[in-house]
Amino acid sequence: MKTPFTFGKIVQDIDFTDREKETKRLVSNFNSSVNTILISPRRWGKSSLVLKAANTVKEKNRRIRFCFIDLNNVRTEEQFYQQLATEVLKASSTKIETILGNAKKFMGRFIPNITFSPDQISDITLSLDWKEVRKSPDDILGMAEKIGEAGNIQLIICIDEFQNISEFENPYDFQKKLRAHWQLHRYVSYCLYGSKRHMMMNVFTSPSMPFYKFGDIFFLEKILLNDWITFIQKRFSDTKKAIETSEAALIAELAECHPYYVQQLAQQAWLRSDKVCINANVYEAFEDLVLQLSMLFQALVDGLSNSQVNLLNAIICDELQLSSQKVLKEYQLGTSANVVKIKNALINSEIIDILGDHITFNDPLYRYWLKKYYFKLA
Ligand SMILES: Nc1ncnc2c1ncn2[C@@H]1O[C@H](COP(=O)(O)OP(=O)(O)OP(=O)(O)O)[C@@H](O)[C@H]1O
Ligand SMILES: [Mg+2]
Repeated sequence: MKTPFTFGKIVQDIDFTDREKETKRLVSNFNSSVNTILISPRRWGKSSLVLKAANTVKEKNRRIRFCFIDLNNVRTEEQFYQQLATEVLKASSTKIETILGNAKKFMGRFIPNITFSPDQISDITLSLDWKEVRKSPDDILGMAEKIGEAGNIQLIICIDEFQNISEFENPYDFQKKLRAHWQLHRYVSYCLYGSKRHMMMNVFTSPSMPFYKFGDIFFLEKILLNDWITFIQKRFSDTKKAIETSEAALIAELAECHPYYVQQLAQQAWLRSDKVCINANVYEAFEDLVLQLSMLFQALVDGLSNSQVNLLNAIICDELQLSSQKVLKEYQLGTSANVVKIKNALINSEIIDILGDHITFNDPLYRYWLKKYYFKLA
């Protein structure tokens, strides 16, 4: 029997809960061509939300087309242009003849060699001298706008893991080029999302950066406890099992409402329950899940320096004054300048995040594992 919880892939329909407010905001931005910047830690549901909003918009308005680009494995400008050109062409039509025609008409002086599989146009490959494109990318950067104008269609280009552009060679110049084109577009709008909050913030909120005030910035929040309770109870009853409010709440609380982990823990609890999920099923599922992850967590600790581990220890012990003499000494953190450096390193590797003066772990189960199994505090 198919289990009722899904994690590790984009979720839609019955697997997707809540996010009504966020979906509305995104749908409204898409419909009115407002650029959007969406930021959240990993696995909180960015990709699922963008796809949900895109599907909602597409159903109602056939003049709006979406184009999805993932920069996860894109490390150079050349690769960026290649992805952009390919995806924009693919979004321009469902007919291969039209796509080929568009490539000829709109790619300016770059006429690519296009290969495709006859029954899967999502498989097209453009061969081109991308180094040449990089030297003068204007035609490629302007292609979506021209296609939009010619066909009177609105294109929405959604780019995932957008913060990766700050790791290209000469990122500032590259961003300047993109912005110079994109701000002129009337038939194209952009939805740019990513998980490295600090890098995204640097790209979009520093007045000295080209993408400053590019669009509506929003920070995705976790899904609320009550929404999780309703969702978990519904998925249990859909599959002829039951779970009380208190146990559904326990699942969401142990996973700290982290969307991926709530679904994973709910799945484990569901597998362990007979007809009714009891308290012990949830606790057992939680401990097993943490143990399953322990190899991964151990490897993560092994990659840290001693002072980074010491700082995590202090944070887990709820030390509030990390730079105080007492804490510096007790956890062997060196100087207070050192603490700032260590903190930044941990933020850059996405282990912790700081909101106001509050430090959180991005992965709640990692925190739990460190506390109980590594520092043996609980
Ligand atoms: N609205 C939602 N309702 C229920 N579960 C969700 C929702 N959004 C996300 N999830 C859970 O979180 C997991 C990760 O979602 P998704 O891939 O959309 O997140 P992401 O932020 O794009 O992640 P990544 O940083 O890895 O790209 C999903 O597989 C699902 O288990
Ligand atoms: Mg994603």
